[in-house]
Amino acid sequence: MDSAKHFLSIDDLSDSDLVSILEGAAAAARSGSWQAPMGRSDAPVGLLFLEPSTRTRVSFERAAQRLGHPTILVEAKGSSFEKGETLEDALMNLRALGISRFVVRTAETGGLDKYRSIEGLRLVNGGDGTGEHPSQALLDAATLVEACGRGRVTGLRGLRMTVIGDLRHSRVLGSWLKLAPRLGVELRLVSPAEWKPAGTPATWTDDKAAALANGTDVIMCLRIQKERMSSAEGATSKGVQKSYRVEGSDFDRVQGFLHPGPVNWGVEIEASARSHPKSLVLKQVAMGLEIRTELLRRYFGA
Ligand code: CP
Repeated sequence: MDSAKHFLSIDDLSDSDLVSILEGAAAAARSGSWQAPMGRSDAPVGLLFLEPSTRTRVSFERAAQRLGHPTILVEAKGSSFEKGETLEDALMNLRALGISRFVVRTAETGGLDKYRSIEGLRLVNGGDGTGEHPSQALLDAATLVEACGRGRVTGLRGLRMTVIGDLRHSRVLGSWLKLAPRLGVELRLVSPAEWKPAGTPATWTDDKAAALANGTDVIMCLRIQKERMSSAEGATSKGVQKSYRVEGSDFDRVQGFLHPGPVNWGVEIEASARSHPKSLVLKQVAMGLEIRTELLRRYFGA
């Protein structure tokens, strides 16, 4: 198993990788000018998106284009996945067509690990079920490095981030649970019992007001992932969602708020927050291009 060829989890990064990726992306976003590295690669990149995506798919595609890679998009709809083709067969067939570098989004939690040992493949995780979304957690962290850390990863030490919403189904939280201790970020988790994540070591409470009153520097709101809920779960969630909606007044004492998107304005967060001066939401999206460019340069370079 060679982890260096793949980026499937926050665990695949060394501490020095983490610092240079986060501080490099924050600096690139600050300067607003991106320099193409020497040795651009014309190796094709396959974008296999078996679940819907806007931000992740487009930012990886733009990142690949920046680096000189042609891109080939394969989505569940309109491809042979609709005829029952497996991800493994798709990867093998596309490799036979000369594509060996892939960004993959799959509904299967942990579903990419089994491909680590297949000779010749290089994989980057674009989100696996309720497992991880490691490039999202990195872009969130780089946004915080810039907004709260004075451009330094060490500036995040002791930052208190309260994550509110559907924790149980969140792959973004899956990556943050690994990333936060490495950055010294203190996570507080808030949800109704119905959305409590299984087996988490971080602080969890169902008391949103108490958690926010207890000192929070940054709020991260999470979407209610109806597509991952049974109809019974969905009905229960409807009953609790209003009490856990983040309101504009919740931002009074914090430095900023994050949301990985897509945002359902008026559902998990008050609609007027869209134009709130403390919103970091579009900064996250822009940072996604810098983070994903750096990931593709490292993992898909010549
Ligand atoms: N945050 C995120 O993964 O957004 P998309 O589903 O649009 O890629």
